[in-house]
Amino acid sequence: MDMFVVQGGHALSGSLSVSGAKNACLPIMAAALAVDGCTTLHRVPQLADVRTLSSLLTKLGVNVRREAAGSLLIDPTGIRSSIADYDLVRTMRASVCVLGPLVARLGRACVSLPGGCNIGHRPIDLHLKGLAALGASVRIERGYVLAEANRLKGATVHLAGPQGTTVTGTCNILVAACFAEGTTRIEAAACEPEVVDLADYLNRCGARISGHGTPEITIEGVGQLQAAEHTVIPDRIEAATLLIAAAATGGTLQLNEVEPRHLLTVLHILQESGSRIEVSDRSISITGPQEIQPVDFVAQPYPGIPTDVQAQLTALLSRARGTSIIRDLVFPDRFMHIPELCRLGADIRREGNSAIIRGVPRLSGAPLMASDLRASAALVIAALAAEQESSIRRIYHLDRGYEQLELKLTALGGHVQRLVDSPASLPLPQPAESLPVRKSA
Ligand code: UD1
Repeated sequence: MDMFVVQGGHALSGSLSVSGAKNACLPIMAAALAVDGCTTLHRVPQLADVRTLSSLLTKLGVNVRREAAGSLLIDPTGIRSSIADYDLVRTMRASVCVLGPLVARLGRACVSLPGGCNIGHRPIDLHLKGLAALGASVRIERGYVLAEANRLKGATVHLAGPQGTTVTGTCNILVAACFAEGTTRIEAAACEPEVVDLADYLNRCGARISGHGTPEITIEGVGQLQAAEHTVIPDRIEAATLLIAAAATGGTLQLNEVEPRHLLTVLHILQESGSRIEVSDRSISITGPQEIQPVDFVAQPYPGIPTDVQAQLTALLSRARGTSIIRDLVFPDRFMHIPELCRLGADIRREGNSAIIRGVPRLSGAPLMASDLRASAALVIAALAAEQESSIRRIYHLDRGYEQLELKLTALGGHVQRLVDSPASLPLPQPAESLPVRKSA
């Protein structure tokens, strides 16, 4: 297993382009299995999650081929199976995105329930409720969802649960509804840009979707879609992560090929915490602050602060001059990064779905362990801002969602090296003064 070794204390500086959005790419890849002909997707990031979904689609009989320059060809003509097995689904929850497309294309789907994960309980009851509303018979057997429908029928589908709406649930119902007879109205739909990108792709294929980007989406069923070319939107979470890294190190960064309007609330928090931000049509520049200011925020569905940048902002605010209080309404247990940040000297206490971050003047490098994708990014940011050396193990979490992050950070002057995990440990800290010798009894 690979690990990162980070030498902290170097301000990031320079410019780079953002990759295609993982969370847009995955539902579109899954949707392509329901469309006739070969979809060409451009700006597909080279990520472990994209490879996992490619393997899953290939197992179903879909032909997936990566072209030069980041494009992916997806041809479902040879699809023969409707089974997404546990071994692949458990490594990547987004595999559940094949559920709606499989029912739409084959009239049946047998998809493993994803199970638990490090950021908390993640049920898929709303996906199932939505499919049932469209007329599918849905049951759970031996850890699998079995969904069947001879013909889906348009309906009103309400997708709000106790934690708000669902992003991939909206994606599943959106695709299924394109193939339903009549009109479907999704209420409490997710408004995330990744859902909009999926709807744009489907409309390119001949779907009749309107209202995407708002909580109410209308879909007139068309029965059949014809493959099209589509370019995936820029990854707003990668962009936010790089901006926060620049802010945390007091650096300067220009991000290109980015969509600033997808990042308005994140940019606002960065400004409040002392960074200078300049925005143009497709680029964002940031100059990190001399002194980070504390900020309170709540992670919530779009257009709020994304839960997917909560951990990275926590890392930034751990060095603020004062106390910040943050809350995560989407994943109230998403705080696995806190004990690791505290190993660097941060002073953070969790209380329910909140974290109280008392800023400290300095962090000092330490061996760390990544627990999930965005927590890994938070540890990298904190390690870049810390004094001395840190190691971060279980970096495979990071590889699921960041394309060559260490190379991008190195190009910006960060000192991040990927190594094959080894038991060698970092030097132990030396006490400032020698401790009094205790006399043995
Ligand atoms: C997607 C993103 C993930 C992001 C999350 C929230 C992808 C591939 N992943 O995940 O990076 O962190 O949105 O923005 O796009 N819930 C239910 N019942 C359901 C579905 C969800 O109660 O049937 C709850 C979840 O437990 C969570 C909240 O709703 O508390 C939001 O989850 P959801 O939007 O579904 O997350 P994902 O789509 O899995």
